[in-house]
Amino acid sequence: MANIISIHSFRGGTGKSNTTANVATLLAAQGRRVGVIDTDIQSPGIHILFGLEGEEITTSLNDYLWHGREIEEAALDVTPNLGGEIKGQIFLIPSSIKPGEITRVLREGYNARKLTQGLSDLVEKLALDVLLIDTHPGLNEETLHILFGLEGDEITTSLNDYLWHGRDIREAALDVTPNYISPA
Ligand SMILES: Nc1ncnc2c1ncn2[C@@H]1O[C@H](COP(=O)(O)OP(=O)(O)O)[C@@H](O)[C@H]1O
Ligand SMILES: [Mg+2]
Repeated sequence: MANIISIHSFRGGTGKSNTTANVATLLAAQGRRVGVIDTDIQSPGIHILFGLEGEEITTSLNDYLWHGREIEEAALDVTPNLGGEIKGQIFLIPSSIKPGEITRVLREGYNARKLTQGLSDLVEKLALDVLLIDTHPGLNEETLHILFGLEGDEITTSLNDYLWHGRDIREAALDVTPNYISPA
């Protein structure tokens, strides 16, 4: 079974994209098939770390979320850009850097559940060993869904219950495993 790993922090500019690119390269160097998906749709950028110029992004995650394409059609094999001896492969699913696509996500948001479904499709169609998710900072609804498969109103318990309301800390834990094994 593939591992799906989100690289997240609350603030921007803390090294998420650099960490994602480096971990992807190390895993591919060991011979693994690695997917990297840029879910920072509002401010995409990890493609630069894989040596892609803006005009080389001819397909993107946006094509899947809004334009009816299959998600695996947006994958670019960036392994040759890495240089050195790489036994495995890295497939990048970039986000569009077209201003019209970015303003659309700022205006309308996106269907986070469709994106979660897309993650499973990617793992299967590209036969990935690992899928790394480069995320948008903060904890908006879409990010919660990508990280944990949760909708905002499904967060019914929290650490605050333990810290301030005398509840046992174990009661605050939510088992999110089923959200990934069988996304709705
Ligand atoms: N380990 C590091 N040490 C020093 N600078 C770093 C490190 N990781 C990232 N940076 C720098 O920090 C800035 C933000 O990195 P980035 O990976 O784009 O962050 P994020 O994806 O969290 O916004 C970039 O200028 C990058 O070169
Ligand atoms: Mg980033």
